[in-house]
Amino acid sequence: IEASDIGGENVKVEFEDGIAWVKLNRPDKRNAMSVGLAEDMIRVLDELEVDDRAGVVILTGEGEAFSAGMDLKDFFRATDGVSDVKRMRAYRSTRAWQWRLLMHYAKPTIAMVNGWCFGGAFTPLICCDLAIASEDAVFGLSEINWGVIPGGVVSKAISTLMNDRKAMYYVMTGEKFGGRMAEQLGLVNEAVPADKLRERTVEIARVLLEKNPTVLRQARMAYKYVRKMTWEESAEYLTAKADQTTFVDPEKGREKGLSQFLDTKTYRPGHGAYKR
Ligand code: ACO
Repeated sequence: IEASDIGGENVKVEFEDGIAWVKLNRPDKRNAMSVGLAEDMIRVLDELEVDDRAGVVILTGEGEAFSAGMDLKDFFRATDGVSDVKRMRAYRSTRAWQWRLLMHYAKPTIAMVNGWCFGGAFTPLICCDLAIASEDAVFGLSEINWGVIPGGVVSKAISTLMNDRKAMYYVMTGEKFGGRMAEQLGLVNEAVPADKLRERTVEIARVLLEKNPTVLRQARMAYKYVRKMTWEESAEYLTAKADQTTFVDPEKGREKGLSQFLDTKTYRPGHGAYKR
């Protein structure tokens, strides 16, 4: 494991065989997200996107929390007393990493939910491509409990993964739920026992690291963009995206894939990938 100082005060970054571990690093504050943390995360994500040591990014939390949501003191209270422009800039920094950067990130992302996950933490969770939770993790849309609505972009984010009845229930009650329920709700791919969390997450990262990275990136982007398109638009866009993928792929994956199946008959796509 190779340590790095790009995370600054609030984020810990480590490299391990193609994986970049990005840990929200305010364990004493249950990784509550401050203005400073947003600035550190923007820099980290920006740098990792062009760092060859990062094939997959795993986002998790140091200590017992994934993240206890937005920092009530160092985000909300801290931005209450400042000018409108400064406040706007703080909100924009948070949106920049939690949503915009993660949603359309050039590299695959996995959220590893190790513990508390409240309110604002749902946004980066949902904007990562995949998510694995500890069965012991505790989730909650606790906004209602302290007198605010699930803002930022949380209400929008949950509506992309949870069904309306369930989402409304948790928005309105603020009731907590565990990792298994998060899996049932579609918020995470899997909930696993706490002592298997890291192992299972790394296992999935390894599978992704084996894939043709260009095609993997294009496939992720294509899926995320078509969610908002009509069928007609999707068909046109996906055909163009598929052509673009072939054009930009330095490995010429499509050609190899076709040839190794049809000509040399050395593999079957239904069972696994062509030899890169
Ligand atoms: N904002 C600011 N400080 C926080 C936050 C937060 N979201 N969460 C925890 N902290 C701080 C506590 O104030 C405390 O600070 P102190 O040591 O200086 O007193 C420290 O982190 C430890 O927190 P405890 O509450 O003592 O830890 P505990 O393990 O007992 O409880 C829990 C953890 C359940 C996560 C609790 O801290 C909590 O309810 N936090 C708030 C969760 C929340 O509702 N987040 C906001 C969601 S809404 C939104 O994000 C928009």
